[in-house]
Amino acid sequence: MGKTIIISNRLPLQINISENDLEVSPSVGGLATGLKSFHQEGDSIWIGWTGLASEEIPENLKPKVLEKAKSQGCIPVDLTSEEIEKFYYGFSNRTIWPLFHYFMEYTEFDAEHWEAYKQVNQKYADAVIEKLEDGDTVWVHDYQLLLLPALIRKEKPKVTIGFFNHIPFPSYEVFRTLPWREEILRGMLGADLLGFHTYDYERHFLRSVNRILHYDINFNAVNKGNRIVKADSFPMGIDYNKFRNSALEHKSQPKSETTDIQKKLDYHKYVSKGTKLIISIDRLDYTKGIANRIRAFGYFLEKYPEYQENVRLIMLAVPSRTNVPQYQLLKKEIDELVGRINGKFATVNWTPIWYFYRSMPFDNLIDLYTSSDVALITPVRDGMNLVAKEYIATRTDNTGVLILSEMAGAAQELSEALLINPNNFEQIVDSIKYALEMPEEEQIRRNKIMQKRLRRYSVEKWAKDFMTNLRETTWTRKTFR
Ligand code: UDP
Ligand code: G6P
Repeated sequence: MGKTIIISNRLPLQINISENDLEVSPSVGGLATGLKSFHQEGDSIWIGWTGLASEEIPENLKPKVLEKAKSQGCIPVDLTSEEIEKFYYGFSNRTIWPLFHYFMEYTEFDAEHWEAYKQVNQKYADAVIEKLEDGDTVWVHDYQLLLLPALIRKEKPKVTIGFFNHIPFPSYEVFRTLPWREEILRGMLGADLLGFHTYDYERHFLRSVNRILHYDINFNAVNKGNRIVKADSFPMGIDYNKFRNSALEHKSQPKSETTDIQKKLDYHKYVSKGTKLIISIDRLDYTKGIANRIRAFGYFLEKYPEYQENVRLIMLAVPSRTNVPQYQLLKKEIDELVGRINGKFATVNWTPIWYFYRSMPFDNLIDLYTSSDVALITPVRDGMNLVAKEYIATRTDNTGVLILSEMAGAAQELSEALLINPNNFEQIVDSIKYALEMPEEEQIRRNKIMQKRLRRYSVEKWAKDFMTNLRETTWTRKTFR
């Protein structure tokens, strides 16, 4: 059996240039954090983008970029700033991302962006083909590379190709509005197996294939005439043991070096005397429902004034896609909302919201998860949401309450969380109260069930399951041709 070629737009490592040298940091986002464990353990190479435009990398540093990437089993694909603008900020994040998350009012249909999307997908295909050897398996990831499976298949008809979509696949009524809907579906159908986080996304995809391309669908198989393509759901898990063990280690030996977040958390513990902590962690993205969450928290303090000075929201928003106007507007809105609520409710001893606009190292994330009584995760739409799973995994004494939007893929597996509709303010607010007052036995009972599920269906199991299904699909193809 050959190696696996993982391919995604973004590599798990992010490279920056500072003072004519390279700075390497881990990438943020569920795809990178989740897949990294699979990549580290297996015989795979990972092809993708480092986060830098090729013009930004000085000639003398180019070999170093390759070397850094190689040390982590990665191969960088060069993208020019024009490609980044039109393919990444353009078609990927102003067309597909909003459309697939049901934000039709944000969706742009721009022919130039579409051309760039096709051209950059071809670039990725060329990079894969260059590394492809007999017996290799190709595993393509996410919405930036929807055309890739067919582009690779065109050159290498016999190769085994899997595709995994990390974001929702919208209902046919939404998907059909895309001017390039046939091309996108044909691109995806170049794969042998297409994976989705939930059964609903899978069915939406199959229905679109049937209505738009008129292929027959038999349960979860698409009959393309010359080939059968399968679609199935594989809810992505987390590296459960890594989170659990880090939380255990963290408890037994707190870090000697203190970062600002640890200082804040220490201060909170020192002054709190029973003040509860609510955590919220996301990339700063309009799909995550961050603005409404802040509003709901403000309303909570108004509706239940007894909680003023007795609860604190600690909000981590990681900068993301900052060239897209909607993200810039959202950042401004969040800054204002945090200011307004802190201005309205703060006292000499208490600030209701601690807001951080940056990414945090892994240790700090563990700190945040383990120090919080409640996790408040309220996306309007979210393919999966790994933060919800990570919070549960780090609760080593089994306490803590997860409030989770039913619009996140993760809600399907985490039904013992307090599930809310992110548009229902009263429900969010009452769930916060319920969470803060939930008896410990109930917290433990709920969390134990969820932990068992997360332990069993870890990211390792997820990847293995996908790969086993992929091999079975191709075996059937090759045998019954
Ligand atoms: N994360 C991170 N650094 C941070 C904040 C978050 O690496 O400062 C990680 C977090 O641990 C999680 C991922 O980013 O694994 C976010 O994944 P999720 O599925 O929740 O959302 P996505 O960003 O993929 O939409
Ligand atoms: C989500 C997407 C990933 C993406 C990540 C971060 O998790 O599914 O494909 O990499 O967000 O977004 P970015 O645009 O920074 O790569």
